[in-house]
Amino acid sequence: MAEMIVFDEGKCIRCGICAEVCPVGIIEQKDHKIPFIPDNLYPICRKCGHCEVFCPEGAVSSGYEGTLPSGRDLSIDFLEPGELKEHLVARRTTRTFQKNLVEKEKLEEILDVVRYAPSGSNRQPVRWIVISGREKVTEIADRVARWMASLAEKEKDDPMAAAFGQISDLYCKGIDRITRNAPQLILTMVPSDNPWGQTDSTIALSWFEILCQSYGIGTCWLGLVRMPAREDPSILAHLPVPRGYELGFSMAFGYAKYTQRGIPKRNKADITWL
Ligand SMILES: Cc1cc2nc3c(=O)[nH]c(=O)nc-3n(C[C@H](O)[C@H](O)[C@H](O)COP(=O)(O)O)c2cc1C
Repeated sequence: MAEMIVFDEGKCIRCGICAEVCPVGIIEQKDHKIPFIPDNLYPICRKCGHCEVFCPEGAVSSGYEGTLPSGRDLSIDFLEPGELKEHLVARRTTRTFQKNLVEKEKLEEILDVVRYAPSGSNRQPVRWIVISGREKVTEIADRVARWMASLAEKEKDDPMAAAFGQISDLYCKGIDRITRNAPQLILTMVPSDNPWGQTDSTIALSWFEILCQSYGIGTCWLGLVRMPAREDPSILAHLPVPRGYELGFSMAFGYAKYTQRGIPKRNKADITWL
């Protein structure tokens, strides 16, 4: 088998860090010699690149597919905790958007970073659908509103159905609580047979949301699309979901109309220390 991971004998100082950091333990190093991966273990390599990036001598190189982040060198420069804390506590859901669309290049730039989000077994399963333009977003909101109205009609004693009935009534009056008048939506797709797919989808969307904030782009998780679409898959059946994939979550986004002036209260962290 062609070697996906190459250990440079000239550079390697036999420190064994590559073997220690490998998540699946396939790097062997015997008698302080050059490390290697037995051919039969290559198939379980996660292609995570840890052996390469943790090597203090740059002695490991990888030949598997993938691209590095564009437009930056590969040095590491972590944010100060204060900066990151500030960014995270300031994150808010946006429910009022400007009409103009977020540029494709900007979204590509953001998603080029989001692909570095963690994923179960480094399978990187998340695929994206970006829906741009109010007309296309409304098509989805219309379908959700119709579903909500019919549920409210059928389940008259169910308080949830009654709430959906109200949302759909408001929608008919031009008040969109479903997609929040957003100009754009982003949806994730993950392989249906990936046990971590939905979790990976949520993580990726969280990264998307947090990055958007730095670009002045507001986001809103759309439980009010996700839940109806789970109950009635025909709501999003017009979307080009490849065979073997299922939809993850939906998020509305667009340039935020208003700027927040402060940080609201939240519950204290509930921690059990053992
Ligand atoms: C899983 C999930 C589903 C949500 N669904 C909706 C939704 O359908 N509509 C909406 O306006 N906000 C939705 N939100 C946003 C929450 O209401 C919001 O995060 C919460 O009120 C806290 O406000 P903040 O995000 O500004 O801190 C959702 C958030 C999450 C995490």
